Amino acid sequence: MSNCSICNQPIAPFISFGDMPIANGFLTEAEFAAEKTYPLSVGLCESCGMVQLTEVVEREKMFHGQYPFFSSTSRFMQQHFGLMAEDAIGRVTSPDPFVVEVGSNDGIMLQNFAAKGIRHLGVEPSSNVAEVARQKGVNTISEFFDEDLARKIVAEYGHADLFLGANVMCHIQVLPSVLAGIKILLKPTGLLIFEDPYLGDIVQKTSYDQIYDEHVFYFCALSVQNACARAGLELVDAVPQDVHGGSMRYVIGHAGAHPVSEALEKRLAFERELQLDKPEAYIRFRKNVEQSRENLMTVLNDLRSRGISVAGYAATSKSTTVINYCGITKDHLAYICDTTPMKQGKFSPGAHIPIRPHEDFKNSPPPYALLFGWNHAREILANEQVYRDGGGKFILYVPEVHTL
Ligand code: SAH
Ligand code: TMP
Ligand code: ZN
Repeated sequence: MSNCSICNQPIAPFISFGDMPIANGFLTEAEFAAEKTYPLSVGLCESCGMVQLTEVVEREKMFHGQYPFFSSTSRFMQQHFGLMAEDAIGRVTSPDPFVVEVGSNDGIMLQNFAAKGIRHLGVEPSSNVAEVARQKGVNTISEFFDEDLARKIVAEYGHADLFLGANVMCHIQVLPSVLAGIKILLKPTGLLIFEDPYLGDIVQKTSYDQIYDEHVFYFCALSVQNACARAGLELVDAVPQDVHGGSMRYVIGHAGAHPVSEALEKRLAFERELQLDKPEAYIRFRKNVEQSRENLMTVLNDLRSRGISVAGYAATSKSTTVINYCGITKDHLAYICDTTPMKQGKFSPGAHIPIRPHEDFKNSPPPYALLFGWNHAREILANEQVYRDGGGKFILYVPEVHTL
């Protein structure tokens, strides 16, 4: 039993993955002996509807000066955040707007505001990725955002027209403090716009690999609406996004400041139909996850027994959950290829599968590739047309185990 991070009611986990290493903790051989693991379990708060980890890892263990995820490695995501920036600024009427982004990483979103000379501030605790943003001319401070920091930002820069976050609000354990900070920081007509992987997609696609230490919350419109209301904020729109395997963009203002969209009403009704606020949905989800593991291991064990070589494709943070939960080993995967220099030459968390540059895959492609970067499938399948034309096959496990 633990307590809800939003409303403090007791919650019990509906799924447990056992002990997991840090999802983005790619490591060297010398670091194997000191590698630590942490319990990974998820529960539903039946009181406020928030789905969340029941135990969390200290944030400094995940976000630091050696954070290996650089947002701009995906060209598709660069385009996506260019469009998001355009959409967000289009909603602002003030003559000299001020934009704050949390989890601004290497500046993938704020660079669009910087290029237009718009006043902006990135809040990015992982100092190595923050430095990349600064090099691009994106104003960035290396801090964890919370209510205290919001007060400091107001004192130094004034109130904000826009507060943006992508794939970060679900990372912040102290969500009530973050929302209180946003309440203080936003101008009366200001907007909070954020997007994260959508619980509806996770449940419908059995994409359990979205569950790992960094993802503390699994949001849907129902739970975001409740959490915001407790902070004097109001959810006014929810717009599905075709990124990261299905995300939702939430638009939020001060209570009563903006009209509520019809789409939001429909979304809330859809979520009730899916029973996202009821334990039954998660009992089904757990069964689906167990079945998915069995199906994937049947395929991988079969290939192994026939001596057919398989490589992992993209050392995503999500892959840490799949590998260690399903029991994938070096005997199943010769290596995992990834384009991130900081991951190459290291080993995957837990199972210690070597991470190699994409060139190794290109120069000597194995007959099968397990697509850990399935959320970037459109981009990757297009890039790998030559591999596929040559007979190379991709194994995917979302929404079910299949080969392409
Ligand atoms: N927005 C980018 C990066 C997402 S990764 C994108 O969508 O691609 C999550 C980022 O949030 C990491 O760079 C991490 O360092 C940062 N982060 C984690 N906790 C934070 C906090 N409390 N405040 C601000 N940023 C945080
Ligand atoms: P993500 O799923 O957390 O966004 O992580 C993406 C990872 O996938 C990152 O390590 C970079 C890697 N990657 C590739 O190796 N090749 C690609 O074509 C893409 C898009 C990503
Ligand atoms: Zn709750």
